[in-house]
Amino acid sequence: MNEMTPDASCEALAELKTALRKNRRDAHHRYFQMATVTAEGHPRNRTVVFRGFGADDASLLVITDCRSEKIVELRQNAATEVAWYFTRTREQFRISAVTTCVDYRCQSEEGSALREQVWQQLSEAARAQFFWPGPGLPLDTGTTAAVTDEAPDTFALLKLSPVAIDHLVLSKVQTRRRSQLTDGRWHEHWINP
Ligand SMILES: Cc1cc2nc3c(=O)[nH]c(=O)nc-3n(C[C@H](O)[C@H](O)[C@H](O)COP(=O)(O)O)c2cc1C
Repeated sequence: MNEMTPDASCEALAELKTALRKNRRDAHHRYFQMATVTAEGHPRNRTVVFRGFGADDASLLVITDCRSEKIVELRQNAATEVAWYFTRTREQFRISAVTTCVDYRCQSEEGSALREQVWQQLSEAARAQFFWPGPGLPLDTGTTAAVTDEAPDTFALLKLSPVAIDHLVLSKVQTRRRSQLTDGRWHEHWINP
């Protein structure tokens, strides 16, 4: 999977951080939809939990099970689109991103350390899912292993590095801005909502 380090000086990313702060009282404000494409070219979408920003202060962190379908899809095509709606401030961010999967085979010290750090921050209930039988298998196949303190091989950290952001605000006067990362720089312009 490709890796691209976005320039954090992007207005849309700053607005995303403001939206996270303004909507923090809503329990669901950290959930977004993450779409991938199958090998056959079909769209696949699912809800995931935002786990914070990466060290570049721009990439979105998500945790997932290495055995899940999305990992197979991302291996074929690292392109992702996030759709994130904040109900309190009534704004939508559609974020096109390139996804990097940080799993137990990760060679980078920084990546492995971040994966372990995110694992350490998880609740016991969140950790337990990684010891269940594989997701998507017929019910009751396999046994549940004991939860360990160290991240298991099934645990992966996904790093979604934004390459384009479409920000729509549904205020009295609707606004929409498109931001595009080209040659390491963000270019942003207003468009019709
Ligand atoms: C509120 C909510 C939060 C979820 N958070 C995550 C998550 O952070 N990571 C994840 O892999 N799946 C999460 N899921 C489950 C996914 O939506 C999905 O069912 C699962 O990852 C399997 O998807 P896949 O078969 O496309 O890989 C969440 C589901 C809901 C409803």
